[in-house]
Amino acid sequence: MDVWSYWSRIFCRRVLFLFCVFQEYLSSMLDCPPTCSCSLTEIYCNKSDTGKFFPVVALQDTGSSGNSSVDIAELFNNISSIHIENWTGLQTLRDVDMELYTGLQRLIIINCSLHSIQARAFSQNPHLRYINLSKNPLTTLSWQLFQNLQLSELRLDGVVFDCGCDVRWIQLWQQRGEAGLHTQMLFCRNGAFKIRLQNMYITLCDVPEINVSHNSNLMMIEGDNVTVSCNGSGAPLPEVDWTVAGLHSINTHLSNVYWPNIHSINLTLVNVSRDDNGFLLTCIAENLVGMTNASIQLAVQFPPVILKLSEPERRHDTCIEFTVRGYPYPTLRWYHQQREILQSEYIRTEMDFYRDYLEGCLTLLNPTHYDNGNYTLQASNSLGTVTKTVYGHFLTAPPFDPDPDGSPVPSDNAIRPEEETFGVSIAVGLAGFTSVLLIVLFILINKYGRRNKFGLKGPVAVISGEEDSASPLHHVNHGIITPCTLNGEADEVVIGMTHIPVIQKPQYFRHGHDCNTPTTYIQHIKRRDILLKRELGEGAFGKVFLAECYNLIPTKDTMLVAVKTLKPTACPFGSQSLKDPNLSARKDFQREAELLTNLQHDHIVKFYGVCVDGDPLIMVFEYMKHGDLNKFLRVHGPDAMILVDGHPVQTDGELGLSQMLHIATQISAGIVYLASQHFVHRDLATRNCLVGNGLLVKIGDFGMSRDIYSTDYYRVGGHTMLPIRWMPPESIMYRKFTTESDVWSFGVILWEIFTYGKQPWFQLANNEVIECLVQGQVLDRPRVCPKEVYDLMLGCWQREPQQRLNIKEIQKVLYTMGKDTPVYLDILG
Ligand SMILES: *[C@@H]1O[C@H](CO)[C@@H](O)[C@H](O)[C@H]1NC(C)=O
Ligand SMILES: *[C@@H]1O[C@H](CO)[C@@H](O)[C@H](O)[C@H]1NC(C)=O
Ligand SMILES: *[C@@H]1O[C@H](CO)[C@@H](O)[C@H](O)[C@H]1NC(C)=O
Ligand SMILES: *[C@@H]1O[C@H](CO)[C@@H](O)[C@H](O)[C@H]1NC(C)=O
Ligand SMILES: *[C@@H]1O[C@H](CO)[C@@H](O)[C@H](O)[C@H]1NC(C)=O
Ligand SMILES: *[C@@H]1O[C@H](CO)[C@@H](O)[C@H](O)[C@H]1NC(C)=O
Ligand SMILES: *[C@@H]1O[C@H](CO)[C@@H](O)[C@H](O)[C@H]1NC(C)=O
Ligand SMILES: *[C@@H]1O[C@H](CO)[C@@H](O)[C@H](O)[C@H]1NC(C)=O
Ligand SMILES: *[C@@H]1O[C@H](CO)[C@@H](O)[C@H](O)[C@H]1NC(C)=O
Ligand SMILES: *[C@@H]1O[C@H](CO)[C@@H](O)[C@H](O)[C@H]1NC(C)=O
Ligand SMILES: *[C@@H]1O[C@H](CO)[C@@H](O)[C@H](O)[C@H]1NC(C)=O
Ligand SMILES: *[C@@H]1O[C@H](CO)[C@@H](O)[C@H](O)[C@H]1NC(C)=O
Repeated sequence: MDVWSYWSRIFCRRVLFLFCVFQEYLSSMLDCPPTCSCSLTEIYCNKSDTGKFFPVVALQDTGSSGNSSVDIAELFNNISSIHIENWTGLQTLRDVDMELYTGLQRLIIINCSLHSIQARAFSQNPHLRYINLSKNPLTTLSWQLFQNLQLSELRLDGVVFDCGCDVRWIQLWQQRGEAGLHTQMLFCRNGAFKIRLQNMYITLCDVPEINVSHNSNLMMIEGDNVTVSCNGSGAPLPEVDWTVAGLHSINTHLSNVYWPNIHSINLTLVNVSRDDNGFLLTCIAENLVGMTNASIQLAVQFPPVILKLSEPERRHDTCIEFTVRGYPYPTLRWYHQQREILQSEYIRTEMDFYRDYLEGCLTLLNPTHYDNGNYTLQASNSLGTVTKTVYGHFLTAPPFDPDPDGSPVPSDNAIRPEEETFGVSIAVGLAGFTSVLLIVLFILINKYGRRNKFGLKGPVAVISGEEDSASPLHHVNHGIITPCTLNGEADEVVIGMTHIPVIQKPQYFRHGHDCNTPTTYIQHIKRRDILLKRELGEGAFGKVFLAECYNLIPTKDTMLVAVKTLKPTACPFGSQSLKDPNLSARKDFQREAELLTNLQHDHIVKFYGVCVDGDPLIMVFEYMKHGDLNKFLRVHGPDAMILVDGHPVQTDGELGLSQMLHIATQISAGIVYLASQHFVHRDLATRNCLVGNGLLVKIGDFGMSRDIYSTDYYRVGGHTMLPIRWMPPESIMYRKFTTESDVWSFGVILWEIFTYGKQPWFQLANNEVIECLVQGQVLDRPRVCPKEVYDLMLGCWQREPQQRLNIKEIQKVLYTMGKDTPVYLDILG
């Protein structure tokens, strides 16, 4: 699901296109000052001018309709660079001059007569990175102008300040090497002398110190009153303040100065609210020289409440969903008909923590009518206990659930302790009979397979030899596609090879305690919480690392994750454009993160969140220990030795039929979910699935496939890489991608699984494959593949998309087949 390079390319094209189309339009909309030249992204005034005011591109009154199709604010927002030179009249830079240019990134005002800049001049320009104020008669400058900017460079060459505490901050920034100031030779005037700024010596002029009354953590109980106190000290005496924006509790400030050099301020919280649990209360002390802050984290304790306890719902397993809130975290107990439920593999609690919320499921594996009855959830912590009951009704179900939304409902459950022996013995008998049949079948197949094994070994070795199989996480695409396939309509977002309709009603199971919020909650992870351990792979977009992440979930201090970094993309703009591609890349990043946040399923690789404080941008995913499924299949194939990275690797156990079915079932469950989200994947293949502990398989990749499994793709016209061996005829011929084309690909995945990861049509070249597919040929039945499974494949490979099997059907069939075949997961760690 990688988008990086891909998006930036599209973006570049769009911008270039807009340049051509709107260039004239723009010039008719806006009046460029006569001594400047203007483009969509830049105002450039390099002729001298005596005008007193900052150049504002004036809006032309077109007279006709009041509205225009171009959003004016956006027009200004798109201007990323302003350059003014030799304007002798320009003396003051005012807030109003700057506030329209909200997207400004570079500001150059050189050799003008600028001697003052208003205090809030840059408050509306958060994207400013580069400021050049060289050769202006400025005598002073305040650090507060720049406090909310992330400046990469501030040029002040040729500015002679008045020596004093006012410019001490510049001296400090020089010492710290901030904003490139250390590379500049700066001066200040001390009476008649002009001295190097770095030699200026000023007493009683330093950054404030700060002390708060509680070390980092303040524990309290809901309803309490608490007072916190903050001392700012230093010279000049600092202003001190508590920032309370976002605080729910009622609060009052009390300020007092302990002359001569401590400014103390108390903050009282009255009737502390549980919504402030976890709030970071920050105190700020600032003076002429700079700012210091210190924080206290509030921990508000309150008794548990059960916000939600839903009736059982069939997902992959059956789930009684709950949301409980409380702090300290409540312990949960479940009762069924007054008896406490003991956790087992048939009934267990699965949950996530989010702030003081616990969300999750009481998961029941294969419940029957014996499990009917009242389920009571009891949540308790040191402040109280609360219970809630829900009635669970399960059927002695038919083999398949007729309900279109349900996953398959198993017909029996042989090992439940509470069940009556009579029913059990019949069920066991039936199950035993089926599995005997399957085992016989399996042995036959295996025997048949062994005999022919060596005939097909060659190509496997060749394939594995060609590819870099070293990293456990292989697959990071750089999805490059020609523009014609890409013009995502307004309601679609393009992700890698994938068009995703913008999800209208996102799934909010995870962290979904507030289902009415329309905005997606993207978890932000702090950079300091991410510790890179080793590189897992590299794609065109950037790199993927194994990392340790701290404080990701409250139950664990640290956990392993896979992080995908975004390489800053160079964007070949027209020469006149200075637009920073990182900005748009950031927006796309945000968009992708929102989508990934909304795609949450047991069989989709879990997306934890983003880290955006600084570069590179990072996405944090679940770490799947065994890497991609294709490699996994090959390592667990019948060919005793496999070349991985050119070295022979001993395989550790051959996959059996039940395991193959288990893998296939899990992938189909993921696809059922994607289909329910109207998400067409377009590149389903085993290389784009990942394997974790206990043979857990999930759809997901890090976008490296096109780099590493490049032979799986067919390069068309330079940039497009199509996985034709996984594509149905209509996708190859008309680039038509639908849920049905994903079903076709799933058929190919089945084939890959049952051939232990062979490349489909390995014996044919790409153009021969296309010919075969268009003529209606399909892949042969793999040697170890039962007829029932091959029938499924054939059902996926119907030429007419609407005649293909429905993915839910497929999932049900696989599930039942798998259930009848005992699953031994223990061969894998
Ligand atoms: C600014 O003025 C100086 C001196 O007149 C001239 O050399 C320089 O080219 C001018 N800069 C621009 C961009 O016009
Ligand atoms: C001003 O810039 C334009 C293009 O940006 C250039 O053609 C022109 O020569 C420049 N004028 C001066 C005086 O530098
Ligand atoms: C102008 O836009 C507003 C809302 O954006 C709309 O209500 C109004 O009808 C439009 N007027 C014209 C003349 O298009
Ligand atoms: C502003 O730039 C974006 C691309 O960054 C473009 O889609 C949009 O049309 C531009 N707006 C105007 C008014 O030029
Ligand atoms: C600054 O601009 C003035 C007026 O245009 C010009 O006379 C002077 O030479 C310029 N100085 C430099 C260093 O560009
Ligand atoms: C910024 O100003 C300095 C001094 O005038 C000059 O040397 C430098 O080239 C300027 N940078 C830009 C990007 O104009
Ligand atoms: C106040 O804070 C400073 C650091 O800002 C620290 O060095 C000092 O020891 C603190 N003083 C007290 C009394 O806590
Ligand atoms: C703040 O300063 C006052 C006066 O020196 C002192 O009594 C108090 O303990 C200080 N508070 C903190 C939090 O350091
Ligand atoms: C908290 O302060 C309010 C108002 O000052 C007071 O009415 C209330 O009794 C206090 N509560 C506690 C628990 O001290
Ligand atoms: C601020 O709180 C401290 C205790 O935290 C107290 O000693 C001090 O008197 C308070 N100051 C004011 C002005 O209430
Ligand atoms: C404290 O806040 C709760 C709601 O958060 C409110 O119900 C209660 O009345 C408040 N108590 C006082 C004493 O203000
Ligand atoms: C379940 O609880 C409800 C009341 O909460 C009660 O009416 C009902 O009889 C209970 N059902 C069983 C099977 O215990």
